[in-house]
Amino acid sequence: MSALFTPLELRSLTVPNRVWMAPMCTYSAVGRGPEAGVPTDFHLTHLASRAAGGAGLVMAEATAVRPDGRISPADLGLWNSAQQAAFSRITAAVASHGAVPAVQLAHAGRKGSSRRPWDGPGTVPPEEGGWEGVSSDDAPFPGLAAPHALTVAEIERLVGDFAAAAERALAAGFQVAEVHGAHGYLLNTFLSPAGNRRTDSYGGSFENRLRFPLAVVEAVRAVWPEDLPVLFRTSATDWLAEDPGDPRRGWTGEDTVRLAEELRARGVDLLDVSTGGVAAGARIPVAPGYQVPFAERVRAETGMPTAAVGLVTEPAQAEEIVASGRADAVMLGRQLLREPYWAHRAAAELGAEPRWPVPYGYAVAPRR
Ligand code: FNR
Repeated sequence: MSALFTPLELRSLTVPNRVWMAPMCTYSAVGRGPEAGVPTDFHLTHLASRAAGGAGLVMAEATAVRPDGRISPADLGLWNSAQQAAFSRITAAVASHGAVPAVQLAHAGRKGSSRRPWDGPGTVPPEEGGWEGVSSDDAPFPGLAAPHALTVAEIERLVGDFAAAAERALAAGFQVAEVHGAHGYLLNTFLSPAGNRRTDSYGGSFENRLRFPLAVVEAVRAVWPEDLPVLFRTSATDWLAEDPGDPRRGWTGEDTVRLAEELRARGVDLLDVSTGGVAAGARIPVAPGYQVPFAERVRAETGMPTAAVGLVTEPAQAEEIVASGRADAVMLGRQLLREPYWAHRAAAELGAEPRWPVPYGYAVAPRR
């Protein structure tokens, strides 16, 4: 029996299997100014085809809680009713294939207003639809324009923006909300000592650096139904120095364990464990499953459910991660771009029943 194809209970929600689609920006939203950030038929195809492909949970890409929270001008948002209505079609399509529709609520912080990756690096200027980034402080991410350091009033308003976007996500039919706390975007810069030079109650000590991300989590949890799960994506390490006395010390696996405990106490149901993104020059030992040990450590030391992500591409590899209790689910990114129906292939290889859409299932069944 395959562990990967065993359902996972999170609160009252049953996710049909442990093969989940990782959030992936497609930089394909249409519109400009207040009309921006609306998902299109491209997003519907992108997400629904992975649901038809057997992923148990399909997570929509980083979706900004306000216009300046987009990574690029072509990113999705959930701050108005046009976006909410367009997402409703997508969640219905994903759910029609038996997958759980999930959304990642995000603010890009100092990496906002970036060019789409295929347009090259750099910040989009205001005359081309760009905007000033915001961050914990005014230090730029190398190669991008300097952000404006958030005031306390702006931080408090952002907490409300996350809650409002969560309410819209729920109304649009999403069953899982994930708070994006990773990859050097806004919440991650607050958490990391390498991304936060504030001297007020939102910077300095570990407790102070967690204050804003935890306030966001509390606000999202408060509007998200008791019977549905909230997830948090974290960067478990900055891949910088770890020695407490080192001035170049970054966020560490130890910090992640402490964060997980705080998140769990506030009703976060699963930690989605990624790494990196705060420091431009970090040396990352990229290899198959290279981030799995961080998910494994959180699960072992706190008992909190985790998802592992990062170069998980083979059915046997994914099965081992879940079966050996290193994580409760795996998230696949690029492999699902290459191979949207990966989960059906994996199920067949692992001796589970592939959950083909009915009109395909009888036709592709193995010949007796
Ligand atoms: C990503 N990733 C990502 N992560 C995230 O938290 N929010 C996002 O919107 C995106 N966007 C995104 C776009 C594209 C094109 C890629 C390739 C990646 C990271 C992604 O979720 C995943 O963590 C990594 O891709 C590593 O997993 P894979 O691709 O090795 O399975």
